Amino acid sequence: MSLWKKTVYRSVCLALALLVALTVFQRSLTPGEFLQEHPPPTLEPQKTQKLSGHLMNFNSFWKNPKEMAIPTPTTSQGPQFWDVITTNCSANINLTHQAWFRGLEPHFQQFLLYRHCRYFPMLLNHPEKCRGDVYMLVVVKSVITQHDRREVIRQTWGREQEVVGGNRGAVRTLFLLGTASKQEERAHYQQLLAYEDRLYGDILQWDFLDSFFNLTLKEIHFLKWLDTFCHNVPFVFKGDDDVFVNPTNLLEFLADRQPHEDLFVGDVLQHALPIRRKGNKYYIPTALYSKATYPPYAGGGGFLMAGGLARRLYYACDTLELYPIDDVFLGMCLEVLGVRPMAHEGFKTFGISRNRNSRMNKEPCFFRSMLVVHKLLPPELLTMWGLVHGNLTCSRKLQVL
Ligand SMILES: *[C@@H]1O[C@H](CO)[C@@H](O)[C@H](O)[C@H]1NC(C)=O
Ligand SMILES: *[C@@H]1O[C@H](CO)[C@@H](O)[C@H](O)[C@H]1NC(C)=O
Ligand SMILES: *[C@@H]1O[C@H](CO)[C@@H](O)[C@H](O)[C@H]1NC(C)=O
Ligand SMILES: *[C@@H]1O[C@H](CO)[C@@H](O)[C@H](O)[C@H]1NC(C)=O
Repeated sequence: MSLWKKTVYRSVCLALALLVALTVFQRSLTPGEFLQEHPPPTLEPQKTQKLSGHLMNFNSFWKNPKEMAIPTPTTSQGPQFWDVITTNCSANINLTHQAWFRGLEPHFQQFLLYRHCRYFPMLLNHPEKCRGDVYMLVVVKSVITQHDRREVIRQTWGREQEVVGGNRGAVRTLFLLGTASKQEERAHYQQLLAYEDRLYGDILQWDFLDSFFNLTLKEIHFLKWLDTFCHNVPFVFKGDDDVFVNPTNLLEFLADRQPHEDLFVGDVLQHALPIRRKGNKYYIPTALYSKATYPPYAGGGGFLMAGGLARRLYYACDTLELYPIDDVFLGMCLEVLGVRPMAHEGFKTFGISRNRNSRMNKEPCFFRSMLVVHKLLPPELLTMWGLVHGNLTCSRKLQVL
């Protein structure tokens, strides 16, 4: 880092810390009130809930999906605390002797070396988030350095609500994080994150590196968390921190849905092809996935699912090896359960129009009629939120709901 960059970085960190400290002071909160709850110690640090025989016989399952025994949320209650308290995971050096492995790009090698390390300890937890009558849990994938995105989401679509229309219970929001991917960022940002969490109490953090390939870890850690701490929430919205979400439309969409339905809805891709072009962010070598197409899956930018289905997904995912692309991996888990994700026009997570300059990208009337639209960064998101919730007159409401 150049000298001025360092100085800028330092002053930004300092300013942030000051701001946070000041706000804490103003709200006259004692930091102790916010200290995280430590999980009680356990004698079994590693995975204790192992699926026994539920999803084992795939052949007969494919022939007769109706007969498959799927663990139901009521029979699958494990411990009420995070049962992973140590990280003891060494690289699988076995692989390094194999020619196909040595031919892979370094980031795939790193993924494969640690692929068997499935669960990590929690650094920040909020089991209390699911207490009481929660109707929809909103969870947002975020990284430690993107504080500004979390801030704007809290002010806009992530704003919590105590009771939503029709006495349906609360909407609660949580951010899902790993640890800083760069060593030099870790110490500084971790402290800032702890402050942020004391202020807002809405961060779930696990002790794994926040990298692109580790997004699948984030997926399964969240599903395990939900299964452990959140038995009763009917619906879950999961999304990225750079999207526009219209909670009013989500709630309107959910109004005539039942929690026991196998609801999984989003921007669904059918027969998507694995990308074989090296250099692409989503490139996958055949050594890692040899089939011609992916199972149907919903773009990870934002999707809705029933809480009961999400808890069954945890067990389904547990039968599969990790796959480096998180939304495709979830599609694989859905396939294990025999559940087809449902496509909905209101989820635009793969872009609105191929034309970047399309007026649709800036049209508030369009955003007002949607459920999720990618991709809006903090200043644009604030502006669009203001427009959509202001005195907007649209000539004709787009029929998407
Ligand atoms: C980690 O695992 C290795 C091998 O599985 C074992 O020998 C070692 O004692 C473990 N270390 C800790 C701290 O649990
Ligand atoms: C290493 O590979 C051998 C042979 O494939 C296998 O038997 C063994 O269990 C592997 N060890 C680990 C740690 O995966
Ligand atoms: C995922 O996180 C673990 C734990 O921090 C780390 O050892 C591993 O290298 C990460 N994997 C990738 C592909 O970044
Ligand atoms: C909306 O319009 C009303 C009446 O025309 C006006 O009083 C109000 O200030 C406007 N609100 C916004 C946010 O522009």
